[in-house]
Amino acid sequence: MIIAIDGPAGAGKSTVAKALARKLNYLYIDTGAMYRAVAWKVLQDEIEFENVTRIGQLAAELNINLTGSVDDLRVSVDGDDITNEIRTPEISQAASIVSAIPAVRRALVNRQQEMGRAGNVVMEGRDIGTVVFPQAEVKIYLDASTDARAQRRFTEDLQKGAAASIEATRTAIETRDTRDSSRADSPLVKAADAVYIDSSGFTIEEVIEQVLAVIRTKA
Ligand code: DC
Repeated sequence: MIIAIDGPAGAGKSTVAKALARKLNYLYIDTGAMYRAVAWKVLQDEIEFENVTRIGQLAAELNINLTGSVDDLRVSVDGDDITNEIRTPEISQAASIVSAIPAVRRALVNRQQEMGRAGNVVMEGRDIGTVVFPQAEVKIYLDASTDARAQRRFTEDLQKGAAASIEATRTAIETRDTRDSSRADSPLVKAADAVYIDSSGFTIEEVIEQVLAVIRTKA
């Protein structure tokens, strides 16, 4: 079975997707990490965001590897472990910017389709149910109010020692969601056949239970 989890930043996708992968013993694939890896390289090589041809080529050539278990995921680019480097607010925005480039999406979507082909996978992102695996058996669109998402992300950033203020976090999330939802190529949108879950008033355990209930109807 392929389980696709899409939705905006801070809705709880990663936590829910990882918990599902653990429970079901499925492979967990974080597609956002792949866009983050391209963004990291773009900043590292000081490439202008306007240089879409070069960034597209880069995405096609980079050797991006997602390895390790759900509880110890590693992300590397051409052999460099960048697991921690890609989790900064700067990389979040840069990933959102480069992900709007069609050539970048083509390169990464191809790889994501290869990675998920064998099935028994939980894949999270923005376009999994619409573009990467439109035939996925289970599609969840995980949403939450902007306040709830900003609060969650702010708390996470605080733990990493990277948060500025709740207002700054909220603005950053809104900027990214507007860009991700309004781009021409595979924007963030709920697939017609995805189940919509609003996680705002629920604990993570409750959301996981709701997703498991959806999965049970498909099994
Ligand atoms: O899920 P994330 O926050 O790590 O994703 C970072 C950015 O990558 C996000 O703002 C948009 C982009 N992205 C995308 O366009 N498509 C995906 N399937 C996953 C992420």
